[in-house]
Amino acid sequence: MHYAEITGWGKCVPPARISNQDIATVVDTSDEWISSRTGIKARHVSHVSTAELATVAAQRALDCAGIDAKDLDLVLVATCTPSTVVANTASEVQQRLGATGAAACDSNAACSGFLYALQMATAQIQAGMIKRAVVIAAERMSWYINWARRDSAVLFGDGAGAVVLEATEQALGLLASKSGCDSSDRSILHIENFGSNINKYEAIGGSELHFVGPEIFKRAVKGMSGACDDVLNQAQLSLDDIDVLVPHQANLRIIQAIQQRLKVEDDKVMVNIDEYGNTSAATIAIALCEAVERGMIKPGANIMSAAFGAGLTWAASYIKWGQRVTPVRQSSAELPPCPQTGLELIADAVAACQK
Ligand code: ACO
Repeated sequence: MHYAEITGWGKCVPPARISNQDIATVVDTSDEWISSRTGIKARHVSHVSTAELATVAAQRALDCAGIDAKDLDLVLVATCTPSTVVANTASEVQQRLGATGAAACDSNAACSGFLYALQMATAQIQAGMIKRAVVIAAERMSWYINWARRDSAVLFGDGAGAVVLEATEQALGLLASKSGCDSSDRSILHIENFGSNINKYEAIGGSELHFVGPEIFKRAVKGMSGACDDVLNQAQLSLDDIDVLVPHQANLRIIQAIQQRLKVEDDKVMVNIDEYGNTSAATIAIALCEAVERGMIKPGANIMSAAFGAGLTWAASYIKWGQRVTPVRQSSAELPPCPQTGLELIADAVAACQK
């Protein structure tokens, strides 16, 4: 039996930051409202493309694993904000990495995208089809934001995270998982004015995100905690066996509600929504990387992760970590410098939305 161990991890968060105080100069909101309703204090906005964010996260994960891009069999990019649709974003990442021997594919399950992609790449390794993959979740959610609408302007951020998977005979990596989609509610979270359903010969306006927050909130809590229960049953584990919970970061109150339902102690739950907001598919990839950096993930750790997003897709995964929690080599991969502040970066978009 083959397994797919996570041997490398990396993240790339763009440097330009927009605090709650900053965003209160753009829409009618306050730090008090955003902090108390969501747990978010800041978000980062990107000066580069989704593909560039993805490439730096992937290169850092490759350096962490100590392998060369040429040894990869698969570059899989989970995103709902692709830089380009044809050619796909993964092909640009493959080119930038120099992963000339790898297949390159995008996948989209919105906020559940990283766990879906992790499941797909793991299955290919377990089937013996490939030996090494990099699974990347990269998003530029700021591109979808209508900066005149306070409900969505405060919630989202940009960023990327990646893991390298390598075939092993040891029972490591993704060992149990469950994913699904409740399509009866797909309309409560969607992007308007995007895709081949629209008439491209009519003036269509901006592509922007629409959602029914309180409905998503309830379904996210129920969906993610139910999926975690299913995965624990599948793995024949109890919650006491879980060392770290890495949930999708959409709202701190959603995370706390799941934590309460599952009865998980505070120090086992990875939270970084305060600094990054909701980066859609990238939240779990970034959080997993930071959980290792913070020392929460120890050698041999049992990790539970759960996600929920547009579709309405959901997924949960049980991951068994290997022995190494430090990088094989330090990475020198960096984004180009960003001379602008976060507010300067979004100024043109804000002006267009306020017209
Ligand atoms: N600042 C100030 N007031 C605001 C803001 C804001 N940024 N946004 C909304 N409000 C107001 C509303 O206008 C409303 O005012 P009213 O009572 O006078 O009409 C009031 O706050 C309450 O609005 P609700 O939408 O009921 O607020 P709620 O407490 O539900 O919080 C939120 C909204 C944060 C979106 C919450 O519902 C949520 O987190 N939902 C789930 C996450 C989500 O939808 N994410 C989208 C991506 S999906 C995903 O990642 C899974």
